[in-house]
Amino acid sequence: MKKILITGGAGFIGSHVVRRFVTQYPNYQIFNLDALTYAGNLENIADVDKSPNYTFIKGDIVDADFITDLFQQHQFDGVLHLAAESHVDRSITDPLAFVKTNVIGTMNLLNAAKTIWKDNFEGKRFYHISTDEVYGSLGAEGLFTETTAYDPNSPYSASKASSDHFVRAYGETYGLPYVITNCSNNYGPNHFPEKLVPLFIHNIINNKPLPVYGDGKYTRDWLYVIDHAIAIDLVFHEGKNHETYNIGGFNEWQNIDLVKLLCRQMDTKLGRAAGESEKLITYVKDRPGHDLRYAIDASKINKELGWKPSVTFEQGLEKTIEWYLANEEWLRNVTSGDYQTYYQKQYL
Ligand code: NAD
Ligand code: DAU
Repeated sequence: MKKILITGGAGFIGSHVVRRFVTQYPNYQIFNLDALTYAGNLENIADVDKSPNYTFIKGDIVDADFITDLFQQHQFDGVLHLAAESHVDRSITDPLAFVKTNVIGTMNLLNAAKTIWKDNFEGKRFYHISTDEVYGSLGAEGLFTETTAYDPNSPYSASKASSDHFVRAYGETYGLPYVITNCSNNYGPNHFPEKLVPLFIHNIINNKPLPVYGDGKYTRDWLYVIDHAIAIDLVFHEGKNHETYNIGGFNEWQNIDLVKLLCRQMDTKLGRAAGESEKLITYVKDRPGHDLRYAIDASKINKELGWKPSVTFEQGLEKTIEWYLANEEWLRNVTSGDYQTYYQKQYL
């Protein structure tokens, strides 16, 4: 039986990865380590909570002694590391929190893996989940490939770039068997409503303004979260050690066009007159250091591992909207309390 540690498994992407591993691999013992910050929520994985091959551990990856003890106790065979501070806007107001979790936290996991695996790396793997933001910003042309030079612009992307470098350095220096993936923007169920898609769904439901940063011409490459979880499963099992794979949706949208599509789909789902939700669009002050365009060249993972997205953006967005409308209690729970304070500070 393999013992697999998944960090950040109560968050958005992590919860889909945990669900996939617990249900697809009953012969693995899955340990989900999560500090349950504002972004972590056990409701996201309540459906697998009672599975015999699943254990939840509440804990902070920044606590080096705790992490060392955990690795000594469980002797994990593999690590899928997703725990992170993940929101660019929060990194602008509190950069140090991002250094602690994303850099120090990753270092603690690397040190613990290196210590317990020692020279015996057979069958072991450290999988670091990263972002396309480490590559910086594209102009109108071109795509990020695995060999694009790192050029991060926000405290968030700088902290993720730093953690990627440390993972690679542990591979080169100590022979740690690692893989890294750099993925584009995810959307889908269980997404905390501080990011564009879930925030705007929440605001449309509540007839609140849709705060589009700057001129709305910024471009992102969107991927349905379950397709990301499938790619992570594939890379964990079939990716080559010491390699990086870019993951993306082949799906670029300018923010304003995405928001208009979302408004149209929401009007239909909510039985509103066509054009009703678009009236909520409000242009607001731009994000400082806002990256103009991200777009991933995912041909390596496509050619080498046969992965490609399984849904179109229109299908994925529709499934996402349906999930939020069917899970209003989840939305209500995560938007009470601290969320209101965050929202006031960020937008009002
Ligand atoms: P998220 O913010 O939804 O979840 C992060 C999870 O990590 C939460 O459950 C939180 O409680 C946990 N966590 C935070 N700090 C911790 C700590 N110190 N110790 C233990 N747990 C801690 O993030 P997400 O959007 O699911 O992103 C997951 C990973 O994927 C991140 O590494 C992120 O950089 C990367 N990524 C995200 C996207 C995206 O579009 N969301 C795209 C590419 C890559
Ligand atoms: O590219 C991958 C990254 O995608 C991940 O690494 C990050 O963890 C994830 O948060 C996401 O980062 P972005 O900054 O691209 O996502 P966000 O949803 O915050 O913003 C998407 C775009 O929408 C961006 O151009 C900023 C804009 N935006 C965002 C918010 C929250 C708005 O115009 N208004 C908003 O209120």
